Amino acid sequence: MAAPVHVMITGAAGQIGYALAPMVCRGAMLGPDVPVVLHLLDIPPAETALKGVAMELVDAAYPLLKGIVATTDVAEACKGVDVAVMVGGFPRGPGMERKEVMGKNVAIYKGQASALEEHANPGCKVLVVANPANTNALILSNYAPKIPKENVTCLTRLDHNRALGQVSEKTGVPVSDVKNCIIWGNHSSTQYPDVNHGTAGGKPIREAIGDDAYLDGEFIATVQQRGAAIIAARKLSSALSAASSVCDHIRDWVNGTPPGTWVSMGVVSPGGEAAYGVEEGLMYSFPVTCVDGKWSIVQGLTIDERSRALMDATAAELKEEKAMAEELIAAM
Ligand code: NAD
Ligand code: LMR
Repeated sequence: MAAPVHVMITGAAGQIGYALAPMVCRGAMLGPDVPVVLHLLDIPPAETALKGVAMELVDAAYPLLKGIVATTDVAEACKGVDVAVMVGGFPRGPGMERKEVMGKNVAIYKGQASALEEHANPGCKVLVVANPANTNALILSNYAPKIPKENVTCLTRLDHNRALGQVSEKTGVPVSDVKNCIIWGNHSSTQYPDVNHGTAGGKPIREAIGDDAYLDGEFIATVQQRGAAIIAARKLSSALSAASSVCDHIRDWVNGTPPGTWVSMGVVSPGGEAAYGVEEGLMYSFPVTCVDGKWSIVQGLTIDERSRALMDATAAELKEEKAMAEELIAAM
């Protein structure tokens, strides 16, 4: 058996942490033959709960789990980490926008950036989940300049999977045969879920659904507002779907995307034509393929005028969030 991969989960005593840790131990993230050591970080008020999670993981006797570091010390948690899933932070409640949790969460990501930079393994892959996910990832990347920019990403795979799920429900095509939807931009209500290049059961989605008014209206709103709908229904934000999408994101990044398939990842924009004109340096969700542990943006897609406007609107929100985060940090 290969050497274990060290996977850190921050906010590990929380809802997503509780759903994610067992998935990682079952091989859903890195594969059924890859042993793991879990590094679980939370804050002192959650220390007892964190110990409880660690006890349950021992009790589950996962064959792939080769060790647990459960700690409230960020430096200890980051030591020797290969994959860092940054979930720690405060979730939004009913009626809030994700950027409303910015004040609390941006400060956390600035602080944890240095610990990651100093203690994680070179080549560590970072996935930021806590909201506002794109802006937290950008701040983490900016304050950890030794971590290559392309190694810091944020989660929009949940939105991507939500889009696939909606198309599957509408067409009756199994979700495994729905492909290549795109989430452009921010993990927020301005994201643009784009079906123009996707297929369902091998047919273009627009043809398979045959209802452009639905696709340009209700479909987009449903995907954009799905997080809020889950909060309204559960009184808690999504957790099992978020954890499952985290596994999808890391698995495809590390092991490669399946042939002919792309996925959505929040990544730093390289700017220019290769980034569909999205300003360089924004943490923006693009369609990507992954090979040998590296993502690249899918090239050559035709962007119509309507899509362009929606892609620009979500970029504008990201620029606004970035400025807001910088202001908050300057005032700290
Ligand atoms: P939760 O409140 O259940 O858990 C968060 C955990 O983070 C808590 O245990 C808390 O003690 C811990 N925490 C707080 N500050 C910390 C710090 N400085 N270091 C380490 N841990 C810290 O929340 P949750 O439901 O698990 O959601 C976590 C985050 O993920 C929220 O910001 C939520 O909005 C976000 N989220 C994002 C997506 C996405 O698709 N990007 C999906 C779902 C949830
Ligand atoms: C989600 O999309 O479910 C999460 O970002 C939680 C939220 O606040 O919507």
